[in-house]
Amino acid sequence: MDNSYIEIRSVTKALGGNTVLDNVSLVLPRGSVTGLRGHNGSGKTMLLRAIAGLITLDSGEITIEGKRLGRDISFPPSMGLIVENSGVWGYMTGLDCLCMIAEINKIISKTEVREAIKRVGLNPDDKRKFRKYSLGMKRRLMIAQAIMEKPDLLLLDEPTNALDPGGVDLAHDILAAEKARGATIVLASHVDDKVMSLCDKVCSMANGRLEEARE
Ligand SMILES: Nc1ncnc2c1ncn2[C@@H]1O[C@H](COP(=O)(O)OP(=O)(O)OP(=O)(O)O)[C@@H](O)[C@H]1O
Ligand SMILES: [Mg+2]
Repeated sequence: MDNSYIEIRSVTKALGGNTVLDNVSLVLPRGSVTGLRGHNGSGKTMLLRAIAGLITLDSGEITIEGKRLGRDISFPPSMGLIVENSGVWGYMTGLDCLCMIAEINKIISKTEVREAIKRVGLNPDDKRKFRKYSLGMKRRLMIAQAIMEKPDLLLLDEPTNALDPGGVDLAHDILAAEKARGATIVLASHVDDKVMSLCDKVCSMANGRLEEARE
């Protein structure tokens, strides 16, 4: 049986005269956890954005269950995503932010949103606005947002950025549970923390190129 869920074939993207993704090929089996590691500017975020359907490719293709991104589908059909600079949130409480996002798909109730917020160690009844959250609290809420609908695919850019040691442990346990549930996970990090130990495979990126390596 073909277990490949996502296939990335010879993907190349140039921005402002720089090749930011250079002939990247990678297969993500269903239920796998893949780590992307590499220096600042090596292309980790760009590859996550490509898989998320957020950038157009110069060449190559990405398919999800055989459907080509940008042609057959615009985005992966069941995706949880953490990307940088989610600027839309600021003026609402954490609960209101996630309830607004949950309104898009309408597949979970407010109770499930509250559960996701509790799962990351935050209080759903916290009256502070998101912009008043600390960096680590913001990151925790982003994790809650990514996992709350139990998506098939989780694309997590620096999920443990700004988390305290307890937060890193919590993120590890949450992602281990997501993996056990059968989610396919790609996470990018330039630090080697406990969460990276969940990876079945870790790939190194440098100058937009990807090298596969065993963990
Ligand atoms: N909007 C943009 N326009 C032009 N170039 C960009 C743009 N965004 C990113 N780049 C370039 O793409 C390359 C890859 O950046 P990317 O953000 O993917 O790196 P990264 O591996 O995620 O780094 P970090 O560890 O700092 O998060 C860099 O050379 C960067 O300058
Ligand atoms: Mg990045």
